[in-house]
Amino acid sequence: MRRERRSVVAVEWVGPYALLRVTRGSLDRGGPGQFFMLEAPGRVLPRPMSLCFAPRGELAFLIDAIGPGTRALAELEPGDELAVLGPLGNGFRLDVRKPLLVGGGIGIAPFPYLSERLGGPPALVGFRTAHHAESAALVPNAEVVLEPRYVTEALRADHDVLACGPEPMLEAVRRLAPGAQLAWEAPMACGFGACYGCAVEIEGRLARLCVEGPVLQGRARASGAASRLEGAVA
Ligand SMILES: Cc1cc2nc3c(=O)[nH]c(=O)nc-3n(C[C@H](O)[C@H](O)[C@H](O)COP(=O)(O)OP(=O)(O)OC[C@H]3O[C@@H](n4cnc5c(N)ncnc54)[C@H](O)[C@@H]3O)c2cc1C
Ligand code: FES
Repeated sequence: MRRERRSVVAVEWVGPYALLRVTRGSLDRGGPGQFFMLEAPGRVLPRPMSLCFAPRGELAFLIDAIGPGTRALAELEPGDELAVLGPLGNGFRLDVRKPLLVGGGIGIAPFPYLSERLGGPPALVGFRTAHHAESAALVPNAEVVLEPRYVTEALRADHDVLACGPEPMLEAVRRLAPGAQLAWEAPMACGFGACYGCAVEIEGRLARLCVEGPVLQGRARASGAASRLEGAVA
C-alpha cells in the first residue's frame, strides 16, 4: 500500500458513469476487488473506489456520481492532481473452477480487471436502464439483464459466482449460490483499519470491512453499515 499524488489522464463517459484514468506512478495495481482511496477535491475525506482496470502506466476507476465526493471526482480534468492510496482490502480469490461474474449497476466496476485476470469468463450484469447498460461494453462476455428482470432470475448456480452490486442483489445471490464471493460496501473514512468507520457485522461479530473485506466468501455477509459519515465532515 502506498499513497502518491497522481495526475488525471482523462475522464471518459461510459453511459452515465465516469471512467477516471490516472497515471499509475509506482502504485501497485493490486488484485481485482481491491480498492483505492481517492482524494475528492473539496472534501475532507477520500472516497473508496474499486480498480476497474489497469492499462499500461494507468489506473482506471468507474464512478457513479451520486453525491458531492463522486461528483468532484467525475469533474476532474486532464492534468489535475489527486492523492491516491492503495491497493487496499481483500479482493476476489481467483482459484475458481467455473467462474460467473454477477453484477448490478455500478457494481460492475471491478469486473473488467476481474474478467481479464480470469481469462474472460461469462458475466451476468443487470441495469435499471439501457443508458446504464452501455457500461456493459467494458465487461467481456456479458449478458445484459434490464429491469424489471433481475440478474438472479438468470443466475446459474452451478458456477463459482463472484458478485458485486447493491445489497439486496448480494443477499439474493447469496441465497441462490451460498458459496459465492460477494463484494460488500460500507462508508469508509481511512480504508486501512484505523478509523472503525466501516464497522459491520460479519457472522455475528463486529469487523472492519476495509480489513476483512470488501470481498467476503460463502455465507459471510456484511450488515449494519450505517451511513455514519453522512452529513458530517465527509
Ligand atoms: C470498497 C468500496 C469500493 C467502491 N467502489 C466503487 C466504485 O468502483 N465506483 C463507485 O462509483 N462507487 C464505489 N464505491 C462507493 C463510493 O465510494 C461511494 O458512492 C462514495 O463514497 C459516495 O461519496 P459521495 O460524496 O459522492 O456521496 P455521499 O454524499 O457520501 O453519499 C451519498 C449516499 O450514499 C451513501 N453512501 C456513501 N458511501 C456509501 C457506501 N460505501 N456504502 C453504502 N452507502 C454509501 C451515503 O450514506 C449517502 O446516502 C465503493 C465503496 C466501497 C466501500
Ligand atoms: S475505513 Fe477506517 S477502519 Fe475501515
